[in-house]
Amino acid sequence: MALADFDLVLFGGSGDLSMRKLLPAMYARDRAKDLPPGARIVCVGRHDWTQEEFLKAVEENAKPHVAKAGFDDKIWKQFCARIVYVTLNASDAATYGALAQALRTDASIVRVFYLATPPALFATICHNLAGVGLASANSRVVLEKPLGRDLASAQQINAEVGRVFAESQIYRIDHYLGKEAVQNLLALRFGNVLFEPLWRREWISDVQITIAEELGVGNRMGYYETSGALRDMLQNHLLQLLCIVAMEPPVSVTPDAVRDEKLKVLRSLKRFTQTTLAQNVVRGQYRSGHVGGQAVPSYRSEPDADPNSRTETFVALKAEIDTWRWAGVPFYLRTGKRMADQLAEIVVRFKQVPHSIFAQQTTSSQPNCLIIRLQPDEGLQLSLMAKTPGDSMRLKPVDLELDFRETFKMPRMEAYERLLLDVLRGQLTLFMRSDELEAAWEWVEPVLNYWEQEEVEPTPYASGTWGPAAASALIGRDGLQWREEALPNL
Ligand code: BG6
Repeated sequence: MALADFDLVLFGGSGDLSMRKLLPAMYARDRAKDLPPGARIVCVGRHDWTQEEFLKAVEENAKPHVAKAGFDDKIWKQFCARIVYVTLNASDAATYGALAQALRTDASIVRVFYLATPPALFATICHNLAGVGLASANSRVVLEKPLGRDLASAQQINAEVGRVFAESQIYRIDHYLGKEAVQNLLALRFGNVLFEPLWRREWISDVQITIAEELGVGNRMGYYETSGALRDMLQNHLLQLLCIVAMEPPVSVTPDAVRDEKLKVLRSLKRFTQTTLAQNVVRGQYRSGHVGGQAVPSYRSEPDADPNSRTETFVALKAEIDTWRWAGVPFYLRTGKRMADQLAEIVVRFKQVPHSIFAQQTTSSQPNCLIIRLQPDEGLQLSLMAKTPGDSMRLKPVDLELDFRETFKMPRMEAYERLLLDVLRGQLTLFMRSDELEAAWEWVEPVLNYWEQEEVEPTPYASGTWGPAAASALIGRDGLQWREEALPNL
């Protein structure tokens, strides 16, 4: 679908997200000829910069994040000509007049306000936009995470933003939903007949979802100290992945059909009790160690760190879904910084065969296992038992592999490219609805409260490992192992 002319307004336009992700994503779409001639990007920031000064900052901070392959100087210049810089203090209503003047008033122009700012400013910005008549029916607002820090603050954001914009105008971003591999999971589940009959408690033993990062907290200490791994990754990215793995087939891919099903999963998550909070949740923080052969410092010695910080950089937990489909199937979720590897994957382990007629001859009987790899490569791996050549009936696990990059030798879109296009086209399916956001907070909040009330110290783990030993114990109590611990057999 060709895009109509638009004004994309980036609040936090000179910030990190804008420079690292949003502007490079828009350049990539310009290069792919997706942007109409009348597409403009209005970057808004507090600095009293001239247009030239801002473009210099874009050259220095955004251009290095543009993919080198196929970079075209002419298109870059054409892209920069679309950018307009407006100085504005988000909390000062009097400064919004300049923004109103910079925007086109023609009703056929789509207006998108992308709030890449701290969430404390969301309500103020929306009210100030309304104050100068910019929150029209043709406007959309994009809310970048963190979408609150607990249920009450998320409800407040929803209520305040909802006073200005209708729900159908609000795009709550979770960039994991923009990843090719995550959408491929929808295709795998609902575009094939093969898995759906088996996708249930009768045939699935457990599911592991891991997002592991080698990177540390970097220069984001200010933000990270207010957040931690549970708020930063689990409440949003991991729970969204869990929803897509566990949801019932939606009737279509229309926004509400998909979001209704995701919401049902979130609402069916078994609530924690004092006992399960103590047993089924692991909180960790990285210490110094080696990642990729490089010595790296402890979290508490990173620049601007609090030497006594209790912020977690790792979290692992066991979730259960109280539905007919999933009752009794554990979902183990895990994420951490400074881990042994950089990967995101979903491991679906099927049950053992009910009776093995090959018991004597099988080298090691392994349950079938489907691995959905999201990062760094996108692919599927299905392990099956097969007979080894020879005169005896010896069975061994073998893998069927599918590498999506190899299969589709086509240019890929970064998550933000896809999501920005969806906002500009008015497609809400890959964005969270207010009730989904609140249901996710409602479920994780008892963990946050427990940590605070019980003053739970995160368990230290060496950088370059898979997190605290307690995470292995968590899954080990159920007689299972994380995938990397079970290698090379899986
Ligand atoms: C962000 C978190 O939402 O996701 C970061 O704030 C994290 O802390 C990032 O590093 C991971 O995203 P990706 O796409 O690199 O896996």
